[in-house]
Amino acid sequence: MLRTHTCGELQEKDISKTVKLCGWVGSRRDHGSLIFIDLRDGYGLTQIVFDPKTDPAVHKEAEGLRGEFVISVEGNVESRPEGTNNDKLPTGKVEVRARKLEILNRSLTPPFEITDAINVSEEARLKYRYLDIRRPSMQKALRLRHKVCKLARDYFDERNFVEMETPILTKSTPEGARDYLVPSRVNPGMFYALPQSPQLFKQILMVSSLDRYFQIAKCFRDEDLRADRQPEFTQFDIEMSFITEEDIYELSEGLMKKIFKGAIGADLKTPFPRLKYSEAIARFGCDKPDTRFGLELVEITNLVKDCQFKIFHEVIKKGGLCVAINAKGCGTYSRGQMDELIEFVKGYGAKGLANFKVEKGSLVSQIDKFFTKDELSAINEAVSGKDSDMIFIVADSLRIAYDSMSNLRKLLGKRLNLIDEKRFEFLWITDFPLFQYNNEEKRWESEHHPFTSCHPDDVGLLEEGASLGSVRSRSYDLVINGTEIGSGSIRIHDRKTQELIFKTIGISAEDALTRFGFLLDAFKYGAPPHGGVAFGLDRLMTFFTGSESIRDVIAFPKTQKAFCPMTNAPSAIDEKQLNELNIKIKK
Ligand code: AMO
Repeated sequence: MLRTHTCGELQEKDISKTVKLCGWVGSRRDHGSLIFIDLRDGYGLTQIVFDPKTDPAVHKEAEGLRGEFVISVEGNVESRPEGTNNDKLPTGKVEVRARKLEILNRSLTPPFEITDAINVSEEARLKYRYLDIRRPSMQKALRLRHKVCKLARDYFDERNFVEMETPILTKSTPEGARDYLVPSRVNPGMFYALPQSPQLFKQILMVSSLDRYFQIAKCFRDEDLRADRQPEFTQFDIEMSFITEEDIYELSEGLMKKIFKGAIGADLKTPFPRLKYSEAIARFGCDKPDTRFGLELVEITNLVKDCQFKIFHEVIKKGGLCVAINAKGCGTYSRGQMDELIEFVKGYGAKGLANFKVEKGSLVSQIDKFFTKDELSAINEAVSGKDSDMIFIVADSLRIAYDSMSNLRKLLGKRLNLIDEKRFEFLWITDFPLFQYNNEEKRWESEHHPFTSCHPDDVGLLEEGASLGSVRSRSYDLVINGTEIGSGSIRIHDRKTQELIFKTIGISAEDALTRFGFLLDAFKYGAPPHGGVAFGLDRLMTFFTGSESIRDVIAFPKTQKAFCPMTNAPSAIDEKQLNELNIKIKK
């Protein structure tokens, strides 16, 4: 080894030892004749002192040191002079007096300072990611990510799970995004798809009697990117045979308990609460509610169905809804604040936002003349309005009313400081619908994915051809503080039901065979009842590091445009390679 210790290690107990440290030159301070250097590696900082009186040659060499030079220093550990201890550093009580110095490598001046307090564009951080990762917060996040993976591996190993790898060059898996495709040179005109998840392979492994599967799986999805979405991301992917939902809940809760404790020392209370999808929508307007605060929504359609307010009336006539929220204590909002909220809900498709102030126990508004006294009191009672509250109402189609109001709820929760950032609120969402209507393509599709079982009480509905929206599934999501962290289901394990589901969502028998024939074939040979779940590791990590974006917990993430500024991927390929792949690029 070129070093005896890391830069984060030396303590008072090491005083008077001779040590050898290696690392990067951080900040440098010249005090009179002494030169001080913060020597940094992935473990921390150690102060090095170069003294011209005791070691003039080494001091002379130190004059040439610049930021990010890689050096090796040998010297004695000493206690820092009185009054110069740095309590914020684990090594802050000691320093190393340099006797020998070797420059292992030089560095250009880096484009940004290697500290956590940088103010530099994300593009620059990603272009020089190797420098960005030298920063202590990135070191901490990536090392913690390793620890979380190890905790999960141990957890599954202790429970007899087998860690498996599944193919990356494969066929399309329907998780709702576009595929990343890879052309095959040896099969001209043919393409592999990168897996959106290992879904079909993990189910096949159940047919193979590997009844407890686990993988830290890379998934690839070509979809619109956001702070919590990357084109390639990582899942803790799990599948089990001969189980029910309860087994998945118990296993997942144990996993969360273990990794939250191991990563940040948080003690989670289990079992996690559960909420049916329909109740989540009615109370919070979405299927991943942040339950750290109240401000619940109240549907008041019935209370205002006979009112004289034309906008409400027409929406209700067309089958829409009126949804209200009590913005506690916002009765003094100014016109400007109100207009801002109106613009906010318009961003989610709402046409407007009605408002009523609670004054002396009654609702007051520019539009109150269109409502009877009884209607106004009924609204106020429904939302438990008190003086100086403000009631907001959106009337629109079910989707827009709930979507805009759930986002307004989140905004108000933040504005009114109702969110305790230190709390973790876990929630299982259950009883999802099996299908959802795709408005753009005017067709029904699977809410989760087409391998999800129907709720046992609703199988009849499916066979009778009842309204598809009313059929429930056996899928579940795990939500933390309003973020969907995991998702899974009990699967279909017989070929006939699987074919019925494909038919219901418009996948023809022929198409089903081309796309999923191997799964349907496997189901001919004794598929066991099975189910599973997958957790987004990147999203989980942001809870441990407090990061705003999953890009901060991934070593080499892509930008919002799925671009890597460091490697410049994706990039053009030359004519020869295109020819080999039988591909012509349209000009
Ligand atoms: P699903 O598609 O819901 O389910 O994904 C499971 C979890 O993966 C995370 N996730 C993402 N994280 C970052 N970037 C993305 N683009 C992204 N997409 C999803 C989320 C999500 O909850 N095969 C099924 C699981 C199953 O049924 O067992 C699946 O992949 O945290």
